[in-house]
Amino acid sequence: MNFARILSLLFITVLGYICGAHSQGQHSVIPQPVSIRSAPGNLKISDISEIIIPAKQTEFRFVAQQFIDELGLTKCKIKESKKPAQGKHRSIVIIPLQGDRKTDYYSINVSKSGILITAVDDAGAFYALQTLLQLKESGQIPFYVIEDYARFQYRGMHLDVSRHFFPVTFIKTYIDLLARYKFNYFHWHLTDDQGWRIEIRKFPDLTEIGSRRKETLVGAYGSSPEQYDHTEYGGYYTQDEIREVVEYAQSKHVEIIPEIEMPGHSAALLASYPQFGCGDGPYQVATTWGVTNNVICPTDTSLWFMKEILSEVCDLFPGKYVHIGGDEVNKDDWKKSTECTKIMRRQNLKTYEDVQSYFIRQIDAYLSSKGKILIGWDEILEGGLSQNAVVMSWRGLDGGIQAAKQKHKVIFTPGSHCYFDHYQSLSPMEPLAIGGYTTLEKVYSFDPIPSNLPSEYHRFVLGAQGNVWTEYISTPEQVLYMSFPRAIALSEVNWSQPANKDYVQFVRRLNQHISWFDAQHLNYSGSYYDLDYKTLPSPEGVLLKLIKAPLTGKILLETSSPEEGLHQQYLSSDSLLLGSSQEFKVWYQLQDNRLSRSLPIRYTHHKLSGKKIQFVQDPSSKYSSGGPIAVINGIDAPSNKFSGPEWLGFDAGRNMDATIDLAKTDTLHELSIQFFQEESSWIYLPQSVEIFTAGEDKNFISLTKSLVGIRPGRGIIHKIIFPSPAVCRYLRILVNNYGQIESDKPGAGHGAWLFTGEISAH
Ligand code: ACM
Repeated sequence: MNFARILSLLFITVLGYICGAHSQGQHSVIPQPVSIRSAPGNLKISDISEIIIPAKQTEFRFVAQQFIDELGLTKCKIKESKKPAQGKHRSIVIIPLQGDRKTDYYSINVSKSGILITAVDDAGAFYALQTLLQLKESGQIPFYVIEDYARFQYRGMHLDVSRHFFPVTFIKTYIDLLARYKFNYFHWHLTDDQGWRIEIRKFPDLTEIGSRRKETLVGAYGSSPEQYDHTEYGGYYTQDEIREVVEYAQSKHVEIIPEIEMPGHSAALLASYPQFGCGDGPYQVATTWGVTNNVICPTDTSLWFMKEILSEVCDLFPGKYVHIGGDEVNKDDWKKSTECTKIMRRQNLKTYEDVQSYFIRQIDAYLSSKGKILIGWDEILEGGLSQNAVVMSWRGLDGGIQAAKQKHKVIFTPGSHCYFDHYQSLSPMEPLAIGGYTTLEKVYSFDPIPSNLPSEYHRFVLGAQGNVWTEYISTPEQVLYMSFPRAIALSEVNWSQPANKDYVQFVRRLNQHISWFDAQHLNYSGSYYDLDYKTLPSPEGVLLKLIKAPLTGKILLETSSPEEGLHQQYLSSDSLLLGSSQEFKVWYQLQDNRLSRSLPIRYTHHKLSGKKIQFVQDPSSKYSSGGPIAVINGIDAPSNKFSGPEWLGFDAGRNMDATIDLAKTDTLHELSIQFFQEESSWIYLPQSVEIFTAGEDKNFISLTKSLVGIRPGRGIIHKIIFPSPAVCRYLRILVNNYGQIESDKPGAGHGAWLFTGEISAH
């Protein structure tokens, strides 16, 4: 055992002793380290004169130079030493550790004699540098003793550059930010229906044709009438640019995973080389969102074509993983194709799911032969895979759980917590997004180990990833707005020990990071301190409970009336009783004077508001955040999006069957119900609404049934005038779901979603 090893062991023992006391101090490091303890005093960075690294280990020389450049150690020299622990006064000493520690392990001891860092390898030393950069303040680093390592080995962020293209300079900025928060994978979604963005030398038309779309949809997908911008859109990365980005990412210990989508999401590919499709064409690079029906044929020639593409991709990306998509494959063209029928006969494939599986297995075998590991979205599970293949679970947790039970490695990226293209605040000023409602707190609450995954399968979970799909994100500023600070919350999900996670603490530490983003002129979202709310039933109406970020501040309320004009006041309580129709706005004003965006509330008192409601079958847990009262709380659901606490979503073709207790016998004349429709999200208007009434005896009789019919628009209001006034105590509302989605539509074969908003009665 050499001297360095003895010293580092001694150091770790002492560290373990000190950290037994475990104090978190007032630091702002994100992700939260395993243990961190402060001591009085600071080290002046400009006093550091040398970095001592182990002899003959070039990777440490590179990271030492990063210390010099990034900490601004202008006078500092790098010195190699066989006994690096014997550093001079005021030096940084990096000691490599052997043994069975995780590769990203590091420890730091900042004291008056300098900075002692131990790390298993240069990645660990790089993470120590990221921590020091966050601790540095006004040219000084406070004395700290830190021991740290990641909870998960896979810490990923994704970016879709197909729907919108982002230049190399921005990709590097994105990678910088990932590295700052100790992410180690960048999933680069390079191809999709709306554009092919990677040069493939053997097939130049992929970029010549496939990287350009004739125009782009304006506004929300599903709006009627559709509008286009009549402007060609394009862009791609040359192979030289890709190499440059890969090398850049390597220097930051970020591995890039290229994604080449197949066999679906392939309009841009087939527009360039239609001979590899199964349909009649003509194909064009998609100009609107959603998924096209286009699909690559499972023929030998098409598989050859895909393998040739992947051959160039494998050469460009030295990492071990290649992502091949595999999601949302529309099989209609396969069903119509005689070529496909021949393959099915030859390969003894019984179903079109078997064809999908055959396709993926061919590609899997090819990638394995190139020494690569295939990653695919969770649909690739349908039909068997090589044991090596990794599953990315995006349709909730179930795909990942199933994969782990089959002993596949899994990366969790569920839409509910990890899709950063979702809305992040209820503010109507939020820019147009694809849907959903994924707050910073929700991201932070994610645990990549599902509670119902038996412990023997935990080892198959590699970690979690945040996805940034860019249908509604067209600029680098907007990518940052949607990704940060949610990615910062995810960094702690992936890195920090569950016992060290605390959202209140996290949001306080985040303040310093927000200041850093400001200083760097980097965009981010302040949505996490916008107000959220809950409604509760009350005998007098509806109780509105405002939910604020865990930061000190006051709630400001603004009302407007013809008599008093605009009137503002601070609220003394977070709750407001809504007993009569009213309109107001609320803000959260932080102690440091930051002001949230306003939350407008329009409460319309009606005969159902605040009453008790019960469902025969509850709405989906994914779309019921406002609770059952959401549909009778006097607050309309937004007509332009199906996210937030005002919509209740019933999945898989389920009806809404609700009974409302009016608390006393009342007379009703009419009723209105809000519904939402968005084909691309599998949300359809219901077929019909049937109303039943009952007196105290609960003996229900049908009052009226009305068809909803086909209507344009997203949020619609279905109004029912009763044939005669209904005198009743109980009201039963049965909304009949659209049913199974037809074969030519998104979600074909599945039961439709039914989204219900406010039900009001007068
Ligand atoms: C996906 O969001 N289609 C993976």
